[in-house]
Amino acid sequence: MSEKNEILLKVNKVYQPPQRVLEKALITKEEFDEMYKRSIENPEDFWADIAEKELHWFKKWDKVFEWNYPKYQWFIGGKLNITYNCLDRHVENGRRNKLAYIWVDEDGNEKKYTYGELLDLVNKIANGLKELGVKKGDRVVIYMPLVVEQLASMLACARIGAIHSVVYAGFSSNALRMRIEDAKAKVVITSTWTKRRGKKIDLKSVVDEAVDGLNFVENIVVLQREGDEFELEEKEIDFNEWIKDKSTHCEPEIMDAEDPLFILYTSGSTGKPKGVLHTTGGYNLYTHVTTKYVFDIHEDDIFWCTADPGWITGHSYMVYGPLSVGTTSVIAEGAPDHPDPGRWWSIVEKYKVNIFYTAPTAVRLFMKYGEEWPKKYDLSSLRILGSVGEPINPEAWIWYYENIGRGQCSIVDTWWQTETGGHMITTVPAYPQKPGKAGKPFFGIEADVVDKEGKPVEPNKVGYLVIKKPWPSALRTCWGEPERFEKYWSEIGKYYFAGDMATKDEDGYIMILGRADDVINVSGHRIGTAEVESALVSHPAVAEAAVIGKPHEIKGESIKAFVILKQGYEPSESLAKDIKMHVRHELGALAVPDEIEFVEKLPKTRSGKIMRRVLKAKELGMPLGDTSTLED
Ligand code: WTA
Repeated sequence: MSEKNEILLKVNKVYQPPQRVLEKALITKEEFDEMYKRSIENPEDFWADIAEKELHWFKKWDKVFEWNYPKYQWFIGGKLNITYNCLDRHVENGRRNKLAYIWVDEDGNEKKYTYGELLDLVNKIANGLKELGVKKGDRVVIYMPLVVEQLASMLACARIGAIHSVVYAGFSSNALRMRIEDAKAKVVITSTWTKRRGKKIDLKSVVDEAVDGLNFVENIVVLQREGDEFELEEKEIDFNEWIKDKSTHCEPEIMDAEDPLFILYTSGSTGKPKGVLHTTGGYNLYTHVTTKYVFDIHEDDIFWCTADPGWITGHSYMVYGPLSVGTTSVIAEGAPDHPDPGRWWSIVEKYKVNIFYTAPTAVRLFMKYGEEWPKKYDLSSLRILGSVGEPINPEAWIWYYENIGRGQCSIVDTWWQTETGGHMITTVPAYPQKPGKAGKPFFGIEADVVDKEGKPVEPNKVGYLVIKKPWPSALRTCWGEPERFEKYWSEIGKYYFAGDMATKDEDGYIMILGRADDVINVSGHRIGTAEVESALVSHPAVAEAAVIGKPHEIKGESIKAFVILKQGYEPSESLAKDIKMHVRHELGALAVPDEIEFVEKLPKTRSGKIMRRVLKAKELGMPLGDTSTLED
């Protein structure tokens, strides 16, 4: 058989869960189906039962759900604190000495934190924030590397009811400033540097630039790292000094189920990033339940999510979900392939990781390095492999299954978004899997693939992926921009639509095809074309710019920019380089175009809108499609 046919056979195969996964699984396929059915037929009872069983409430809710389109609420009148569910109750119930986090860095350093130690640290930070005058509802921006103090700072905000807004430490000072300004943050917590591929990356100077002249920022707390010698300036506080003498006791703020928990900015197809707002009760419940069932967490499991807390995956599956369930997480600062491409597998071996959750871009990177790297390590502890952030192409799925899973693991390909708070579409580990197809909607999720009018399309036909009703961890609004929230629920009927195309097969398995809008997915990170374009045109030489996403072997998509220069500027390689540097400064390294092409003209509609679709088709050598609205 030819290699191509062999791949085709593998791609079209249905993968049954391995026996060792089935033996351990918390729920069988039949139980999942039965629970799903109940969650759709009787959502309020379903969620009320689980909320009562899985979470601690200071006061029970009066009503489970209310939907005044487009607004909705869950567990109305219920009182809780998410940190109580993530920390105190475990400490009180015999998990005080259980590890919450095992932190490692590129140089082989390691730090372990038990639930007891984490609770103490969180309370000290919470008391520090209180001392700075931070109160319930105030915003705190966190711009830190992946260290436990980062995660603990998030929890400390939640402890006292402050709203955290975490900004990924790869964003530039301008991107950070926009987020600090938009949320009017009272305090910024940061650190001096992080390390990636052996190189120190300065974070503090980025913050200095970002807060310059912002008078509403009252304090900047700086975590100094080993070897730092630092002079603190006005408003600045040393993190370790700050918490040193603080009490390890801090009463959790009594939060309403609908009180805001955090803001997280994400790119849309137009304008500046949106501040997606999540609230306390529904988010706690949904991240808890998805962590438990999708990752099939058992008491002695070691869970490793390779994301960064700067993204939603880090919020839901490094912090709130795993801690609420009471599991032990590995967290790793630095790059996957430094000092060598065996780094991640050596961590799996060393800590006997059972559940491993990463992005397709990482899988493709390791495919490129070759199977000899994972082969050097004992990966037999692994039971479940997860994928998130972008579509996983079947070839990468199979490589992951065979070389990391050794045919002994279930793969959960979880489709979800910043806005959804938790997993929406996936198979649970005891469910048969199909390479490249995320699978089935999770409990309470009514997902469908429809046309523009909201009518279901036929099996295997391409349509828009929608969710028909609100679920507990659905975004509640966009910070300061309620109209942008409403848009999610009004573009396709009264369904939730956040921009993905998909197909659904005869068995109800959903395959995600990618974005329907002008959002580019680079290495699993959402980047708005409008943001990159506005960064480009802020360069003195650039008159106009248009940006498209191009398929990329490892990153999934890469950014290509078409640029019209202003009079008096000549295209050159050094100018292209300078423009790239400029985008890096405006937005951060992750938004820098791989390619810049200088052009004389851009395809536009008669009303002056750039037709990126035409640019993309031309770039990829595909048919241009309907060009009747093209200007000339
Ligand atoms: C994409 C990340 C295919 C999708 C959790 C979505 C995926 C966007 C998958 C959200 C998946 C995420 N298969 N595509 N398993 N997971 N996506 O907000 O386009 O950073 O709309 O949330 O990533 O990105 P976000």
